[in-house]
Amino acid sequence: MLNGISRMAGAVAALVLSLGMIGPSATAVAPGAYDIDSASSLQVVVNKHRPLNPATYVPGQLVRIQGERLRLEAADAYKQLAKAAKTAGVNIIPVSGYRSYSQQASLYDSYVRQYGQATADTLAARPGYSEHQTGLAMDIGNASGVCALQACFANTPAGKWAANNSRTYGFIIRYPAGAEGTTGYTYEPWHLRYVGKVVAQEMKNVATLEDYFQLEAAPDYLP
Ligand code: DAL
Ligand code: ZN
Repeated sequence: MLNGISRMAGAVAALVLSLGMIGPSATAVAPGAYDIDSASSLQVVVNKHRPLNPATYVPGQLVRIQGERLRLEAADAYKQLAKAAKTAGVNIIPVSGYRSYSQQASLYDSYVRQYGQATADTLAARPGYSEHQTGLAMDIGNASGVCALQACFANTPAGKWAANNSRTYGFIIRYPAGAEGTTGYTYEPWHLRYVGKVVAQEMKNVATLEDYFQLEAAPDYLP
């Protein structure tokens, strides 16, 4: 009898363990495992609730890639990604990388003038709130220019290749389709964010950085 109970307890423990392997805990990250607060951290989480600190942060060691700039670590990874894509016959080009506080302000203001503030807020970050200001984000395009910065980019060679392969090089697609309620931004299949290979791989089945780090959704700016 005792033997039977302990066997059963063992089976239950094994079941719990195996469920744990496929359940949410498989991708949960230990609190404090990464620095998500410092502007200079490769895993910094920037969203409408989490501005850069300081708001006018400028990364060190910006590296130029075909007219755009990225932080050294992200630049090295990006170069590997672009090279691998080229080997596979896909010509990916950098469209927009690092943007300073004032460049982001100009971009955001132009969207506000064009579409009004509510729509602008779903397309571009306010200055001090953009991943582009970290030097870790790159908007990519096809060399042909087809579907540049449009949703149809997802169906182009560069868009498909990036969706399937970016994580191998430490990048995630930061604003996925269907995650607007979490990120506050419309689908941006062209916006790659460097987070490092470990996090990128662990996020294979996780839509957003907010989900991965178990942060609140940030669809709107706080009052
Ligand atoms: N388009 C993204 C949200 C940015 O402006 O940072
Ligand atoms: Zn972008």
